[in-house]
Amino acid sequence: MHDQAIYGVKPEGRLKVTYTEETFNFPDGEEYKLQTPHYEITDWYAENIAPEDLRISVRIPLRHVGMGQMMALDLDELKRLAAKSNYPEYGISGRLNYITERGIKQIGVSGNKAQHADLTVELGFSSDLGVTNDRYPEEVCQGQSQMMGFANYGIQVSTQDMEDVDLYMQTLGVPARRNVTNETVKKGEEMFYKAKCQLCHTPTLHTRPRGTVLLNGTQLPWLGSQTIHPYSDYLLHDMGPGLDDGYPSGLAAGCEWRTTPLWGIGLQEVVNGHTYFLHDGRARNLTEAIMWHDGEGAASRILFSRMSKEERSALLTFIESL
Ligand code: HEC
Repeated sequence: MHDQAIYGVKPEGRLKVTYTEETFNFPDGEEYKLQTPHYEITDWYAENIAPEDLRISVRIPLRHVGMGQMMALDLDELKRLAAKSNYPEYGISGRLNYITERGIKQIGVSGNKAQHADLTVELGFSSDLGVTNDRYPEEVCQGQSQMMGFANYGIQVSTQDMEDVDLYMQTLGVPARRNVTNETVKKGEEMFYKAKCQLCHTPTLHTRPRGTVLLNGTQLPWLGSQTIHPYSDYLLHDMGPGLDDGYPSGLAAGCEWRTTPLWGIGLQEVVNGHTYFLHDGRARNLTEAIMWHDGEGAASRILFSRMSKEERSALLTFIESL
């Protein structure tokens, strides 16, 4: 939704967010709060489309590190993981998203629901920035009655420029871990395994031998044959009704989300200037992010909540070292 517009045209609408907050206690008595967001569209521009007929899903931007490694992932390894990722004792079974892009059915790896096979630079230009390009030559507001009479400005970004952005994104490195020998961090890592977080936040994966291919077909061989530590299986998991946005993408149902890669998460505050987590940023810190885990993530949440305050805090310190 575009809440800004060019001169003389109404923005599509504005997003109104209100929260209800509830207080809970860990079994040891420590308090935590969860806020549930409620979304409403106001100042909606179109009389012929009722706002209540719209489907909305609210997202905060993902951390853009390790994009090249993600694009170079060994997809056979992901397939094996999906076949293996079945832990009935913890209620966990991950699956791959398949989507059809450019007429080809492919495995989705990028996006909160693994709904894209690549970095969708062209979609970013078109849908987020309103910049037409060779893959999306039409203005995103095409068809809006208020656009009648506006000139067609043609293609606004060259394919070469988009290829450069694609190369830039694919080469944004993953920050090195910090404080790896710190005792609390090491204890927290043990707790991460104790809470079975690794069953979805897979510590180690591999990239395929020849690396990745850019939009223009150029190979980036140096991204190939790497052992990487994304802390994600890139699979979809049912995270329960609380996180259900009712917005299916490809095979992913409303309640299904791709395990968010945790690499670089400890530097989010420094780099992005905030500590909001989960797809819509409803969690204000790591504890809240974990306590929202439900559905396939429930077993982990319960194991985490039963830990002592010191163990929970060590686990968070470990995550901050990623
Ligand atoms: C069943 C698979 C699964 C398990 C087990 C699991 N997670 Fe997650 N985790 C997810 C998914 C899926 C998301 C994305 C949910 C969303 O965005 O709504 C997520 C999101 C997160 C986030 C937020 C990341 C961000 O940048 O927004 C953190 C932090 C996190 N998990 C930590 C943990 C920890 C710690 C544990 C163990 C106590 C754990 N997870 C266990 C699947 C899992």
